[in-house]
Amino acid sequence: MIISASTDYRKAAQAKLPPFLFHYIDGGSYGEHTLKRNTQDLAEVALRQRVLNNMSDLNLETEIFGEKLAMPIALAPVGLTGMYARRGEVQAAKAADNKGLPFIMSTVSVCPIEEVAPAIKRPMWFQLYVLKDRGFMKNVLERAKAAGVTTLVFTVDMPVPGARYRDMHSGMSGPNAAFRRIVQSVFHPQWAFDVGLFGKPHDLGNISTYRGEPTKLEDYIGWLGDNFDPSISWKDLEWIRDIWDGPMVIKGILDVQDAKDAVSFGADGIVVSNHGGRQLDGVLSSTKALPAIADEVKGSLKIFADSGIRTGLDVVRMLALGADCTLLGRSFIYALAAQGQSGVENILDLYEKEMRVAMTLTGAKTINDLNRDSLVHF
Ligand code: GLV
Repeated sequence: MIISASTDYRKAAQAKLPPFLFHYIDGGSYGEHTLKRNTQDLAEVALRQRVLNNMSDLNLETEIFGEKLAMPIALAPVGLTGMYARRGEVQAAKAADNKGLPFIMSTVSVCPIEEVAPAIKRPMWFQLYVLKDRGFMKNVLERAKAAGVTTLVFTVDMPVPGARYRDMHSGMSGPNAAFRRIVQSVFHPQWAFDVGLFGKPHDLGNISTYRGEPTKLEDYIGWLGDNFDPSISWKDLEWIRDIWDGPMVIKGILDVQDAKDAVSFGADGIVVSNHGGRQLDGVLSSTKALPAIADEVKGSLKIFADSGIRTGLDVVRMLALGADCTLLGRSFIYALAAQGQSGVENILDLYEKEMRVAMTLTGAKTINDLNRDSLVHF
């Protein structure tokens, strides 16, 4: 069993949340093999201990697209963040902001762009899928621009949603789902009052702002299924490139050829990701996919990595394998569910401390000092 703050917050989140929400964030697709590999493969990356190098002066800062980050971490886009704590996107964004890190808002967030962006000082980043409703895509990009969003993170590994069987069992979807969710809420009164009652509206905020009418949680799974576009290709991204003039990051790359295509396309960054083991079960962990991708495209664009990161040591491992920056998903959501904004700030502080220990003991004074030589190769 891996012990970390993420593990503790996960337990606390499980106690507090109605099961349909806990399992939605905690689960993966099909047999959850890739979900497990993500954490296991990362934990097995052996760091190379170095000593007696006067490590009193460490610098964890990095710069991405002209923005300074206090450490190479951003909060990943997570759908329904606002169901995990009252107005959860606002709380998480404030935590990231206070720690000098970007918050990436999901298309399918509860709070709309217009509620979150003005609540923070840093520019927000925004995630978008290729959706059938191109009118919505155009509308949301215009609103993101107007709200000062700098970086667009474009998710491409969800042309179809993976089957998440836990969701059928938990009441997120499946038979009598709405009734089961109500029963679960009754047994989780702290969540029911704090988020269920006082955290309203429980909307897909970005979509209802566009439609001019509420888009309820009940519509979530259906909306995703109906709107994901299996016909997507690089051509659709060209359409976005034409209307988005800021940095564009392509999220969901696991293959060297796709990474090379992203460079040819002119992407500013890629996220090496298997969507936290939530899409195609059986694919490689990001840990295993990253080195070959970095060998091919490092320096041509920014490489982000996610899927399986639970500690600051894992961040250091991903950087040593070739990432420029990492994204945290589940890890911050567990903390948000358990303790709100202060939980997210606390886990980010712990990430920083863990990174400092790992950098001190691998002899890396700056982020740029982390590379394959920071690892032991068997
Ligand atoms: C959405 O992106 C999800 O993984 O549920």
